[in-house]
Amino acid sequence: MNTYGWAARDSSGILSPFHFERRANDDNDITIKILFCGICHSDLHFAKNEAGMTSYPFVPGHEIVGEVTKVGHNVTKFKIGDKAGVGCMVGSCGSCENCKQDLEVYCPEMIWTLKTFGGYSENIVIDEHFAVLIPNSLPLHGAAPLLCAGITVYSPMMYYGLCKPGQHLGVVGLGGLGHVAVKFAKALGMKVTVISTSPSKKNEAVERLGVDSFLVSHDQEQLQAAMGTMDGIIDTVSGPHSILPLINLLKTNGKLVAVGVPTEAPEIPYIPLIMGRKLIGGSAAGGMKETQEMVDFAAKHNIIADIEVIPMDYVNTAMERLAKGDVKYRFVIDVANTLNSSF
Ligand SMILES: *[C@@H]1O[C@H](CO)[C@@H](O)[C@H](O)[C@H]1NC(C)=O
Ligand SMILES: [Zn+2]
Ligand SMILES: [Zn+2]
Repeated sequence: MNTYGWAARDSSGILSPFHFERRANDDNDITIKILFCGICHSDLHFAKNEAGMTSYPFVPGHEIVGEVTKVGHNVTKFKIGDKAGVGCMVGSCGSCENCKQDLEVYCPEMIWTLKTFGGYSENIVIDEHFAVLIPNSLPLHGAAPLLCAGITVYSPMMYYGLCKPGQHLGVVGLGGLGHVAVKFAKALGMKVTVISTSPSKKNEAVERLGVDSFLVSHDQEQLQAAMGTMDGIIDTVSGPHSILPLINLLKTNGKLVAVGVPTEAPEIPYIPLIMGRKLIGGSAAGGMKETQEMVDFAAKHNIIADIEVIPMDYVNTAMERLAKGDVKYRFVIDVANTLNSSF
């Protein structure tokens, strides 16, 4: 099937219109007409080949929502007209230990959406197993970022047991991932503290997102006062930062979970971990079953990302602004209305 989107051609990362082929819709596949697609930090990193893994032309986009326009003979989850979402993966082996436990994201043969033509495009053809049903009550533009940012914070909260009413959760970084973590945690009845380098984010965090407290990460007095108070911390920051102050914020048995891929590996301070029986863990997105659960949870609690909707031809400017952290909190491309085929 002939289709089109916007692609980066080289490590400048600059995107421009691009025609390409999608596979035909097979028995297990659905075709989704893409309506909205979020812009995740890894789209930016990949467009500029910062991980050295990009093959060009590269069509980014792995926070995809749209409408099902075709269903294969064997498809059971979807019918034409349903709203569907696709996140960071489009395939896995289906038979390894991870796949059997609904942990496709940890399958050695898992296929990142980033390694295929992604969602800055007219449509996508995907095995129904790797699509989730978006409940009709969720506004689609704000739901798009749930497919990567949402599951990336939801999955570790569930797995590490940082999801119980009354627990105190720290969220490091109030960006695309962090603000959704705050919303999930508040919906779960948790106490939430945001830890941020930007004091200017405090008012909005407290007044609009309802966080219970706000720590400026370079304010030693504030950090000192909050020592030993948190059950867990979700660290969404990928830039260089010290983790010792975060470990010190944890209670005995506390858990620090990394979800932002660091640009340089942090030093792991063993002694404070040992002395507090604390744990450092990591987590990558989540499996498909859990992604569906997350979307259903979001629908039940009216959780969507805070977004700035942009037209397709604004994407290069949006990428520049994203690199500077100049977005509250996620750009979402209005694909269906602004992707123009007449080029
Ligand atoms: C679809 O289902 C039929 C009947 O069960 C099966 O023979 C066929 O292999 C399936 N197609 C795919 C692509 O799995
Ligand atoms: Zn992402
Ligand atoms: Zn597998």
